[in-house]
Amino acid sequence: MTLGYTPTVADERLEDWIERLAAFNADPAAGGVTREVYEPEYRKAGRYVTSLMEEAGLEVREDAFGNIYALWEGTDPRAPRVLTGSHFDTTLNAGKYDGSLGVLGAIDAVHRLRTAGMDPRRGIDVVAFAGEEPRFGLGCIGSRAAVGELTRPDLDRLRDRNGTSLATALTGAGLDPDRLGEAQLEAELYSGFLELHIEQGATLETAGVPVGVVTHIAAPHDLRVLLHGAAMHAGATPMNLRRDALAGAAEAMVELERLAGTSPSGTTVATVGVLRARPGAINVIPGEVEIEVDVRDSDEAVRTQVVEDFLAAIGAIASRRGLELSHEVIARHAPAACDEPIVGAVRRACTDLGVDFLEMASGAYHDAMVLNSVMPTGMIFVPSVGGISHSPLEYTDPGDISRGVDVLARALAHLAA
Ligand code: HGY
Ligand code: MN
Ligand code: MN
Repeated sequence: MTLGYTPTVADERLEDWIERLAAFNADPAAGGVTREVYEPEYRKAGRYVTSLMEEAGLEVREDAFGNIYALWEGTDPRAPRVLTGSHFDTTLNAGKYDGSLGVLGAIDAVHRLRTAGMDPRRGIDVVAFAGEEPRFGLGCIGSRAAVGELTRPDLDRLRDRNGTSLATALTGAGLDPDRLGEAQLEAELYSGFLELHIEQGATLETAGVPVGVVTHIAAPHDLRVLLHGAAMHAGATPMNLRRDALAGAAEAMVELERLAGTSPSGTTVATVGVLRARPGAINVIPGEVEIEVDVRDSDEAVRTQVVEDFLAAIGAIASRRGLELSHEVIARHAPAACDEPIVGAVRRACTDLGVDFLEMASGAYHDAMVLNSVMPTGMIFVPSVGGISHSPLEYTDPGDISRGVDVLARALAHLAA
């Protein structure tokens, strides 16, 4: 199928959509974009995205969990459809491309295909999954609901940093937690899922290659760790009589960094992004500390070993310091291997367009990681300037965006033919 595609220069339409979507922001003063799933700004953004889907001639529907699907019906309605999209919720003080590019880019790809006169045999379903970012500790809740990984008790158990449960947030957004089951996809309706996303790292920029063909997606094994010591007077307590939970956590965090940095795979990463010390007064030795630990790798065995070594190390630190230790698993997901026919279609699209590409793993997780358990998935990466993401400084060049959307459109044309 020839679509006569050549990499276009920046596509003003898509750039405009990106800027307008970024304006739905709950905390502009803090810098960057904050648009957490189910919050008012998110719901307003959803209405904007829905309007773009309708203008593209797609049939839009929202499921019981807030996932938004928009269908371009194929000439053979019984043929399994191609699913493509991403998410438009953000983490805190984030950029305007993470997730949003995959949703808006998919809508733009539909416009490019229609303009090129395509009439897909298979339907193309554009999706915006709710809650890819881990507001409630667990990421990808929308796609997990779609593959049936979430249970109704999970919705009460999962809570955000203010203690708001996922069920309460759903209800606040006008959705019904008891209808969770209705969000489960019939996977056999789909031939696979393709997600366009910014790389969020510096591999493409360093290699000077404009497109990444993702072959593997690293996955998280996340823990919440609690250390209990003794809150005591910061002035009157000699150093040898202290049970300082924060000093213990600090020692454990440095050991975590060492374990990840020296892992046998060379691709393990570990982060403590959340630390809560109580009571949190300058003149009180912290009696209680909670840290949230994120360990990732595309090699699951190595990741498991690093987590086990970390738990052994923090156990030894706690007993030496007279601290009580407890922990719970927040998330533990298998790394995903992207597969045919999706990866092949992306390679073909790049070849058709004469676009140089690099086959690579994704350090970030994505909805494509979750969908991979029920259907073939693949991803297209475009470069992140300076490898910066999850930051107000996140940026991708408009020409790179337009080229990425061309590759997406061409890959969809192959998959939907
Ligand atoms: O954390 C991640 O990998 C994703 O950006 N939520
Ligand atoms: Mn993200
Ligand atoms: Mn993302």
